[in-house]
Amino acid sequence: MPETEPRRQPEGNVHTAAASITICMGSSCFSRGNSRNIEVVQDYLKTQSLPPTVELNGHLCEGHCKAGPNVTINGKMYHEVDPIVIIGLLNHFLPKAKG
Ligand code: FES
Repeated sequence: MPETEPRRQPEGNVHTAAASITICMGSSCFSRGNSRNIEVVQDYLKTQSLPPTVELNGHLCEGHCKAGPNVTINGKMYHEVDPIVIIGLLNHFLPKAKG
């Protein structure tokens, strides 16, 4: 899957979380799939009993609309993300629940 470094980090994002998920909420990404992707991520976080160190944020358009829907995980932006891709990314990057 294609990926690029994001142009900038949102203000106040200090990366203290074990995992950081940022979903582009710009109109292009949102209408092309991130409206669904955010629901998938929220459901995943609810059902996986993950530690509270997983951070979910949204951001405005960062100028990569043609490659969207875009999702950034731990500072790396992933393009053309659909619900199947996002589940794979979450399974790969998020800490596993203990117990
Ligand atoms: S709307 Fe997501 S990069 Fe432009």
